[in-house]
Order: sequence, then structure tokens, then C-alpha cells
Amino acid sequence: MQAWVIGNWKQNPATSHDVDLLLNDLLTTIDTKEQADTEPSNSRCQLMVAPSCIHLAAVSAHLAGSSILSAAQDVSAYSASVGAYTGDCSAQQIADAGATWTILGHSERRQYHNESHDTLLQKMIHALTQGLGVVFCIGETQAQYDAKQTLEVIDAQLLVVKDLLAQQPELIVSLSEHLIIAYEPVWAIGTGKVPTVSEVSQTHQHIKQTVTGFAESLKVMSVLYGGSVNADNADSFAADSMIDGALVGGASLKVESFLAIANAFSQAKG
Ligand code: PGA
Repeated sequence: MQAWVIGNWKQNPATSHDVDLLLNDLLTTIDTKEQADTEPSNSRCQLMVAPSCIHLAAVSAHLAGSSILSAAQDVSAYSASVGAYTGDCSAQQIADAGATWTILGHSERRQYHNESHDTLLQKMIHALTQGLGVVFCIGETQAQYDAKQTLEVIDAQLLVVKDLLAQQPELIVSLSEHLIIAYEPVWAIGTGKVPTVSEVSQTHQHIKQTVTGFAESLKVMSVLYGGSVNADNADSFAADSMIDGALVGGASLKVESFLAIANAFSQAKG
């Protein structure tokens, strides 16, 4: 199965100049590596980057013709297209900017923007009906982890997928190709703390079983791990058969670490 390594740039870099430098470095390093290797460096690992909305069109244009996909970090919950929603970007506008995917439900959006089940369901419907794939983030807080509520929390967050299928049953056929779940324990994001590989593996197994219960076709859906993934720990996550890739924050802003993570998944899933 193909692995996914997705860079969530969050509200970085500060300028379009720095965005260009990062992308040039990324594309040149991949090119050099491909010329040295017999096989394309990310043939078994699909790379994607999610810049902030202001940089999305330029990043998508820069990546056109490369093997790297671009994604938004959010879409408007209120309209899939146009409307009086100051500050929002719709799924149609994001697709028009050249992105093919969007992240949804990241814990920072759940925390700072109070994103609820209903909001996320609307966002997911808008994204999918405009042809965008969705990387749907779920995960427990430190307090929930300490109280051993991880699976309970995840089950509640996954109800968005269940309700999506109830409302849009026609999506069942193709959803496994357009939906990726990213399991990101909130306490592991940007902290340097990570769960053990076996904990992640068991949680991913639970996620896969749960979504397969919603629709048999989701059996093959990819489940990624996110939270302090770096060049040093990527190998151990990649080696586990339940972990189909990584959603990477901090380490995706440095080409060396981002590609080391991609390489770890490419090797392990080859
Ligand atoms: P991190 O972020 O890799 O910096 O921990 C991951 C994420 O928030 O997606």
C-alpha cells in the first residue's frame, strides 16, 4: 500500500519569499535524489504539503507538474462556493487555487475555533462535494489519555464520518480514496512527546475497524500518525503495518527532516 507523508505548515513560513525558498529546496533535493537513485524517491510514498491559505495558489502552481500534492488546512463550513462569510475560504475556491486535498478537524482548529461535530460534518460535505480529498484529524488530549479515554474520544470524533455516509450515501463507493484519517494525540503535537508505536498501532487498528463498521469499502482507508514525528522516530512508526504514513508539523518545515520521514515510509512500505 502506498504511504502518505503530509506536511502541515500551519501558519508558516512568514513570507512568500520563504515559501519559495522552502519549495525550491524541496523540489531540487528530490530531483537530485531521483537522479542518483534508479527509482523515484517517493514512488511508494505520496508527498503532500498544506501551506496557509494565503500561499495556497502560489504553492499549487509551483508544484504543478511535480509529484507533490497541495492541500488547504481548512474550508468554510457555511458555503461550498460563495457567500457573505467574511474571512472564510470555500472548498470551491480552494480547489480553484489548485489544491486537491484539505486537512479538517486539526486539534488547533478544534481548540481555537471551537470546531464541533456539526461544523466538521458541514466542512467535510463541502470539501468532498467540491472534489477535494479530506485528511480528517482526530485525537485525545493529555487529560483524556491519562484517563484512558482515547478510544472513546476517537469513537465520538469518527461519528462525523458515520453521519457523512448517512447523509451522502453515494460517497461510499469512492470515500476510501478521498478520506484519510490522521490520528494525532493532542499532547504529542509540537511537544516532542510521542506515544509508543504499539499504542499507536492499537489505536489505528481500532480506527480501521470502526470505519469498516461504517462501510466495508473503508477497510482500505489510510490511517496516518501525527504528533512530533521527526527524522529520528519516523523509522519506528513506518515499520508498523497499521501506520500508513505521517502528518508532520514542525519537521515538515525543514526539507532534510521532511524527506528523511518520507524516505523512512517509502523504504518500510516498499
Ligand atoms: P508536529 O505537528 O509534527 O509539530 O508535532 C503535527 C501536526 O500538528 O499536524
